Amino acid sequence: VELSRPLGVGEEPEQEVDDGRKKITVFFGTQTGTAEGFAKSLTEEARARYEKAVFKVVDLDDYAADDDEYEEKMKKETLALFFMATYGDGEPTDNAARFYKWFTEGKERGVWLQNLQYAVFGLGNRQYEHFNKVAKEVDEILADQGGKRLIPIGLGDDDQCIEDDFASWKELVWPELDHLLRDEDDAPGASTHYTAAIPEYRVVFLNSANALHMERNWSLANGHAVHDLQHPSRANVAVRRELHTPASDRSCIHLEFDISGTGLAYETGDHVGVYSENCVEIVEEAERLLGYSSDTFFSLHANKEDGTPLSSSSLPPPFPSPCTLRTALARYADLLNSPKKAALVSLAAHASNPSEAERLRYLASPAGKDEYSQWIVASQRSLLEVMAEFSSAKPPLGVFFAAIAPRLQPRYYSISSSPRMIPSRIHVTCALVHGPTPTGRIHNGVCSTWMKNSVPLEESQECSWAPIFVRQSNFKLPADNSVPIIMIGPGTGLAPFRGFLQERLALKESGAALGPAILFFGCRNRKMDFIYEDELNNFVKAGALSELIVAFSREGPAKEYVQHKMAEKAAVIWDIIISKGGYIYVCGDAKGMARDVHRVLHTILQEQGSLDSSKAESVVKNLQMEGRYLRDVW
Ligand code: 2AM
Repeated sequence: VELSRPLGVGEEPEQEVDDGRKKITVFFGTQTGTAEGFAKSLTEEARARYEKAVFKVVDLDDYAADDDEYEEKMKKETLALFFMATYGDGEPTDNAARFYKWFTEGKERGVWLQNLQYAVFGLGNRQYEHFNKVAKEVDEILADQGGKRLIPIGLGDDDQCIEDDFASWKELVWPELDHLLRDEDDAPGASTHYTAAIPEYRVVFLNSANALHMERNWSLANGHAVHDLQHPSRANVAVRRELHTPASDRSCIHLEFDISGTGLAYETGDHVGVYSENCVEIVEEAERLLGYSSDTFFSLHANKEDGTPLSSSSLPPPFPSPCTLRTALARYADLLNSPKKAALVSLAAHASNPSEAERLRYLASPAGKDEYSQWIVASQRSLLEVMAEFSSAKPPLGVFFAAIAPRLQPRYYSISSSPRMIPSRIHVTCALVHGPTPTGRIHNGVCSTWMKNSVPLEESQECSWAPIFVRQSNFKLPADNSVPIIMIGPGTGLAPFRGFLQERLALKESGAALGPAILFFGCRNRKMDFIYEDELNNFVKAGALSELIVAFSREGPAKEYVQHKMAEKAAVIWDIIISKGGYIYVCGDAKGMARDVHRVLHTILQEQGSLDSSKAESVVKNLQMEGRYLRDVW
C-alpha cells in the first residue's frame, strides 16, 4: 500500500512564482476515489484545452497542515473547482473532514473570498436523507464569503448515473473556463474534439519463480505512527462464529480481529475498515476472461522507463507490486460492481470483434443512456458478467487495472466491542450479503463472504488475516455516565450498542454510577436471528442495561418493528430526552429503518409535547445540534 502519496502523474509541482499564467486549483474530497477520478479527468481535459493555464489537483487534506494555513492559502486562490463527496449521515469524506470542519465553523468570517471564482460538483446518493449535504454547504459558504459562483452546483447522484451528471456539469464549466482562460491565439473550438486518453500503467512482466520472495510481505505492525486508510495493519482473525441459528436462512457472522502487536487502538463506537479479498471462484473467472494465468508475475508503473510520467493524469496510483495476477485480482480489483461508462469505453478499445466494440461504445454514449441504466445498472450486471458477454475484449493488464476494474475498497463496520472490556480485539458483527440479481447471478458480498469463509486462529495457525484500520466516529456515549440513553438498533444495527453495553458494564464494575439505558432491538424471529440474546440478557442482569425491548417482525400476524415499540414507550422517551436531557442513538439501515425511526421520533415529540409539526422538527434539529441525537447509519 502506498505510503506517502507521491506527486500524481501529470501533477505539476507547486508554483509560487507569478509568471502571469492563470492558476486553477481543482480540490477533491474523496472516499472511494470517484471524486478524485473526476477531478483528475476534468483537469486532464482542461490542460489539453487551455495550454497556458496551470492546473493543480489537490487532495484537501494535503492542502494545508492546519487551519491557519487553510486560510492563508485559500485567500490567494482566484479560480477553483471543488469535487466534494458526501457519505454516511451527511458527513464529509475522511480526506475533507479537516477542511470541512474549519470551513463550516468559520461561517462568520465575513467577505474574504472576493477574489475567488469557483464551481462545485457534489457526489452523493439521492436515496439518503442528506443528499450532497457537504457540497451544498461548501457551495453556499463560498458564495456567502464573497466567492463568485461560476455555475450552479452540480448534484451528482450515484443512485442513477453519476458519470452522466458529471458530464452535464462539465458542459456548463467549459464556456466559463473558455471565457476566463482562452487566449486569442488559442485555436478556437479545438477542444471540442478532445476526448480523454484511456489511462494505462506500464507493465513489466517478471519471472514468476521469484514471486514467493518478492511479493509484499504483510507484517503485523505497519511500521508507521499512523493507522488509516493508507496505512492499515495486518490483523489475524482470532474467532469466527455464526450468530444465526440453523433455522435461519440467512447468516450473520461474529468476527474477532486480534490487534495485539499491531499498534492499532480504538474507542467504543468507532468503525473498522477492512480490506478483504475476492473469493477464489471470482478471481479464477477474472483470470479466464482476461486470458492470463494466475501466476503471471508483474509490476505496474505510472511512469515511463526513463522515469518521466505517463501522459494520462487520471491514472490512479498503482497498488503495491510486483505481485501475481492472483493477488492483484483478489486484493485490488473491484470485479463485482457494475462497470462505469469509462470502463466500457476502455473495454471497447480492446475488443477484437468490431460489433462488440461498437455495442460497448454505444452503451457508454449519450444515445445509449437508457440501455446503460437498464442493461447494466438496473440489472446489477457485474464487471465480470459484462466481460463474459463481450468475450472478444481482452484488455492488457495495464489498462485493466488503470481504467476498467476500480480499486477494491475497504468495507466499514461499526465495532461491536469496547476496548475497556476487550482491548486487544476488535469485534465485528456482519450480515452476509447474499442473493440473486435480476440476471439470475447469485451475488455474494465481497467482505461478508470473506468473513464467513475466514479461518480463525482458534481453528488453525494458518488463519485468515486482513489489512485493517480504525476510523474514529462521533458515535460516543455521553461523557457523563449518569445521563440516560436510548439505543435503537435492529439487526446488525445492534453492533455499536454491544460495544456501548460492554463499556457500561466495565464502568459499572469499576464503581461508576450509571444512568438508565433502554435498548430497542429488532429481528425477525426469536428462534432464528435474535443475535447475542444471552449477552443482552446478561447486560440486563448485571445492570448495564435497564430495559431490553425487542420487536419481532416475523413472529406474529403483523410486522412489529422497533419504531412500533418506540411509539408504545412515547411517554418514557419524552421524559428521557426532554425532561432528563438524555441521548438517543440510532444505528442501522439509513434508507428504511433510520428514516422511519426519525419520523416516529418526530411524532412522539409532537404528541407528547403538544407541539405543531414545525416546532417538533426544530426540537429534533436542536437535539442533533447538541449531539444528543446521534446516528450511525449506512
Ligand atoms: P423484516 O425483515 O421482517 O422486514 C433486522 O433486519 C430487523 O429490521 C428485521 O426484523 C427487519 O424486518 C426489520 N426492518 C426491516 N425494515 C425496517 C424498517 N423500515 N424499520 C424498522 N425495522 C425494519
